[in-house]
Amino acid sequence: MDDPHPFAPSGRGGKRIVVMASGNGSNLQALIDACADGRLKAAVVGVIVNRRDAYARERAAQAGIPCEYLPLKPYTEAGRPRADYDADVAERVAAYSPDLIVLAGWMHVLSSAFLDRFPGKVINLHPALPGMFAGTHAIERTFEAYQRGEVTGGGIMVHVVAPEVDAGPVIAQAEAPILPDDTLETFEARLHVAEHALLVEATRRALGG
Ligand code: GRF
Repeated sequence: MDDPHPFAPSGRGGKRIVVMASGNGSNLQALIDACADGRLKAAVVGVIVNRRDAYARERAAQAGIPCEYLPLKPYTEAGRPRADYDADVAERVAAYSPDLIVLAGWMHVLSSAFLDRFPGKVINLHPALPGMFAGTHAIERTFEAYQRGEVTGGGIMVHVVAPEVDAGPVIAQAEAPILPDDTLETFEARLHVAEHALLVEATRRALGG
């Protein structure tokens, strides 16, 4: 049978990464670039998205990486349990034989129906420090808390995924300062730049580098 993923770095000792994303995919791009220039001895061998309009699809296409669009909606419309979706996504991911699965802006919580298939191999990027602003819109909530004087800055972290939302053993974390002149937009732009570097470093560590 033909290798379904012939671009994969098998035979060169490289590790195989699957990235799951829902949006712009700038962190996916950071991983693709780090693999391309050798900072990561790995290759992104597959991308999974759950939103039709996710720009991550375009980034995967430009890099020649297979990308699968796996929406949740058909499952909910058919009244199927969420675990069915998670198990089917796990099946698609497993087909790439990944060493590591990186959730880079993946906007669904994954249950044990997914996680039990890849114990300790799923990592997540969250735009806040451990224990802070779990869930969606963490950047906006950080900035609003700053404006209310409740925090002095924000942060970012990469952690091994546990069943709790945005929690689990931390692989890397960094503070993301908020400057007096910052708007939400300038803070967010700087935070994203920091995310890209932190995600590459955390991925290197998670791969055993
Ligand atoms: C990042 O801010 C990440 O921390 C959050 O979602 C965003 C994804 O950005 N979980 P991108 O799609 O990688 O550009």
